[in-house]
Amino acid sequence: MTPDSPMPSTDRPLLVALGDRSYLIHIADGPVSGPPSHAAFWSALFAECGTVGDLAVVTNDTLAPRYGEALCRLFTKLGYRVVPIVVPDGERFKNAEMLDTIHDAMLEARLDRTATVVALGGGVVGDVAGFAAATYQRGVRFIQVPTTLLAQVDSSVGGKTGINHPLGKNMIGAFHQPRGVVVDLSTLDTLPAREYAAGLAEVIKYGASLDATFFTWLEDAMPRLLMRDRGALTHAIRRSCELKAEIVGSDERESGRRALLNFGHTFGHAIEGASGYGSWLHGEAVAVGMVMAAALSAKLGLVEQSVCRRLVALLATAGLPVEPPRLSVEEWRRWMSTDKKAERGRLRFVLIDGLGSSRVSQVDDADLDAVLSARPESSLVDQAVVV
Ligand code: NAD
Ligand code: GLY
Repeated sequence: MTPDSPMPSTDRPLLVALGDRSYLIHIADGPVSGPPSHAAFWSALFAECGTVGDLAVVTNDTLAPRYGEALCRLFTKLGYRVVPIVVPDGERFKNAEMLDTIHDAMLEARLDRTATVVALGGGVVGDVAGFAAATYQRGVRFIQVPTTLLAQVDSSVGGKTGINHPLGKNMIGAFHQPRGVVVDLSTLDTLPAREYAAGLAEVIKYGASLDATFFTWLEDAMPRLLMRDRGALTHAIRRSCELKAEIVGSDERESGRRALLNFGHTFGHAIEGASGYGSWLHGEAVAVGMVMAAALSAKLGLVEQSVCRRLVALLATAGLPVEPPRLSVEEWRRWMSTDKKAERGRLRFVLIDGLGSSRVSQVDDADLDAVLSARPESSLVDQAVVV
């Protein structure tokens, strides 16, 4: 199926161009929240994704009663054998045990290699169900149905799947591209405000590090986005996915440019790890991580402090934290040491060298330590003296 194919999407589907592993992102209104009236959508989607065998629908115990059960009923009506797999809700369960639970259920249901895993949920369900699909009988199809803003703009696109390890975030995983992505805008109506803000952090990330025009649009549109205005949301999700799809299409396995998608993540993953996964949401940790990465960029003379201040202001307007937790320099360094961008033990950071422009670089220990030890944290940006 091509982006011109007739699908009841709110918007034209977006193509993630990866040769014979290309797929479409459908941005639609209703197929997850009101499945009975979207039978034709799902039939066409399964045909597009080459779904021929049984379906393993993986979701969590919050989303199963809200969306999962009705979706499974529709899929059964469409003629599929459906195996519902419900996992506990939460980042702290994104581990080897959750992966086992999914594999156990697939094996007990005797699913074969023609099966398709449908991941219904936020980034946690998407990452673990995707990894289960990547590893079940050496790899089966999967479809991403993201229901958080964060998953709709980021984690459902690009094929990174995996679980956390006690020693590091997302340390065990695989690249495994989905066959399709279905974004239902109306699922965001039930998303708690804190989770919604966490998704806005990743949206802001795209503007700050890759697209100045989009960043400026976000500054203007933030009040509408906070009211979950459908028009503003459609543009924010579409532009975020376009930016991600373009980078993934050019560097699927992160041998270069894809690392730019990790602006704020080196500091952010350390915050998540040090706090024990779950007390800080991923998007919240990334928000603070972006402030720290911007302060480091300013300290190195790569960017004006006014750009950092605009970033801090936009994150704060979105309801996100902008001050790092109190960790010692040693703790920061320990949690950052497992960062996947590190080369031969040297940390590398995504730095901004202008609004909407970024690069990956090593930095001197003294510059990094100055940012890690800034006190009070609230003056992080002001202390980042431009040289
Ligand atoms: P999440 O999956 O934990 O979902 C957040 C919460 O919202 C959960 O309690 C969930 O049950 C609930 N929820 C989901 N959709 C809902 C809805 N429509 N209505 C009501 N409640 C709903 O968190 P997340 O922010 O979506 O994802 C974070 C995870 O994504 C992290 O583990 C992070 O590492 C990962 N991630 C992966 C990638 C990638 O490229 N694979 C990119 C970014 C983040
Ligand atoms: N979230 C970063 C990436 O997908 O590469």
